[in-house]
Amino acid sequence: MIVSHDVLIVGSGAAGLYSAYWSSTKADVAVLSKLFPTRSHTGAAQGGIGAALGNEEEDKPLWHWFDTVKGGDYLGDQDSQQTLCYDAPQTVYELEHMGVPFSRTPEGRIAQRPFGGHTRNFGERAVRRACYAADRTGHVILHTLYEQCVKNDVHFYSEFQVLDVIMSEDNSKCVGVIAYDMLTGELHTVHAKVVVFATGGSCQNYATTSNCQANTGDGFGIALRAGLPLEDLEFIQFHPTGLAGMGILITEGARGEGGYLTNCNGERFMERYAPTVKDLAPRDMVAQCIYKEVLEGRGINKTGKISNEDYVYINLMHLGKEELMAKLPEISDFATTYLGIKPWEEPVPVMPTAHYIMGGIPTDNDGQVKNNAQGNIVEGLYAAGECACVSVHGANRLGTNSLLDLVVYGRRVGLHVAKNVDSIPLGDLPANPDARVRAQIEKLKSSTGTEKSSTLHKELTEIMMANVSVRRTDASLKEAREVVLKLRERYDNLGIDDKGDVFNTNLLEAIELGYMIDFSLVQIEGALVRTESRGAHLRLDNTDENGEPCKMPRDDANWMKHTYATIDNETGKVDLDFAPVYLIQDHPEDGWDEGLFETMKPKERKY
Ligand code: FUM
Repeated sequence: MIVSHDVLIVGSGAAGLYSAYWSSTKADVAVLSKLFPTRSHTGAAQGGIGAALGNEEEDKPLWHWFDTVKGGDYLGDQDSQQTLCYDAPQTVYELEHMGVPFSRTPEGRIAQRPFGGHTRNFGERAVRRACYAADRTGHVILHTLYEQCVKNDVHFYSEFQVLDVIMSEDNSKCVGVIAYDMLTGELHTVHAKVVVFATGGSCQNYATTSNCQANTGDGFGIALRAGLPLEDLEFIQFHPTGLAGMGILITEGARGEGGYLTNCNGERFMERYAPTVKDLAPRDMVAQCIYKEVLEGRGINKTGKISNEDYVYINLMHLGKEELMAKLPEISDFATTYLGIKPWEEPVPVMPTAHYIMGGIPTDNDGQVKNNAQGNIVEGLYAAGECACVSVHGANRLGTNSLLDLVVYGRRVGLHVAKNVDSIPLGDLPANPDARVRAQIEKLKSSTGTEKSSTLHKELTEIMMANVSVRRTDASLKEAREVVLKLRERYDNLGIDDKGDVFNTNLLEAIELGYMIDFSLVQIEGALVRTESRGAHLRLDNTDENGEPCKMPRDDANWMKHTYATIDNETGKVDLDFAPVYLIQDHPEDGWDEGLFETMKPKERKY
């Protein structure tokens, strides 16, 4: 079946819905999603959305920009980072006017709380910048945007899974997508002038993750198969506080409200590592410090190993039940339901959990997809949200900048599409556009292979968690590459039990696994070649005076650059190209205030 729309948005989280909202002011728009929209993972975002609102004495976008640059360990493109932080207040107010029920101050303003790495006046002290709705901020934004899209007559294809993107022969133009109707098993060709990828995150390739089951990085897998590059995929964020042994998110807002971490000695260990902001240091640092505490035997169970047996505590008891129920009801419920721990009575066991991918499908500052490191644009193809890499997060994202990225860039994409859609031609569909997908499905359904996707998936998540997580070495990464390449070979011998058409999740999980194997190889290769530590990428290949492994330093001379990876679909071999980081000091021709060059210049990160 062939259907046609001016604009087709793939994914119904906040980035997809905001793009849809603004595009639909000028064009016929459809959103296609493997979930019902209000089940999208945006709904799991808890603690807040960053924006320097209100009184300039207390906060301003310039300081937010500086924190974002520094938090990203100077790998972010500083022009896009400026856009993120300066677009933030107007976007948050637009959301407020749409009806997002933010929590309120006693004066009736949007309530804000401190969050990791967000400071006043270039690091002087923590600042209240995270606008929140209790600890359900993503949930209320998602629902509000969905209502706005319904109001604007956006068409929804729910429980449709995209399986391919249709490109012109030279990959210079996008023509549409191939989607699978989960209810019937039918394939649909969606012919569109504009396609927006807003397919979300990818951390389901890790054994411990805060991500929902749908976050299988489908956009990454589809882009790679279409010959498009992925940028900076080696930077994976581990949120410091997942519920121990489960990975379920305990919001950083808990530390924003005064919660603090302790080790087996009851010591507030973050005071040692980040004397100024302590528990509100950025996530890369806090996660690395927790690993260090546990590995040096100061975890609660003193095992000296990273396993499901050890952890540190987050202490919230002093906040009291009433305040916890008012400001942090979700996480109080999670701790009670999953661990039987009432956080107003006892500390909660936590460990880092795979949470977010800083890299993604490379885009320009309006969300247009680039098809190489030289920055050539693919006509009619956009990406926004977690699957995109505008490079606002660099090597480490600050908490609250994810919801912000979703809405700022979802909105920018929507506005850009609304302005340009009339001049974008509807490209010609090739003959048999769904041939590749039909063959893939046919092969899986008719296979007599003995491998099971659940087994391969488990092995994938285990090796990624053990070897490509908070700490990496040349040896751990080479071992991971070997294991994942073997999984890729074994994938060829995959068999599925369900041969039917109706809600064949067995088939779809097998396809998702193929994507995860491919982009895991990209993550490993990027991490392997990047012989430095930067942000969330910690390489321990140097040795200290006692011959013990220690951290490789950041290497700006050689590694102030983005990786652009493509994959050979036959062999799984990853090819890397590189693009320079946009530092404002290198671009006086763009009219930057020269007084800022020193402020934004790469320096050692101290908190
Ligand atoms: O901790 C949190 O509430 C997560 C926020 C984020 O990832 O930005």
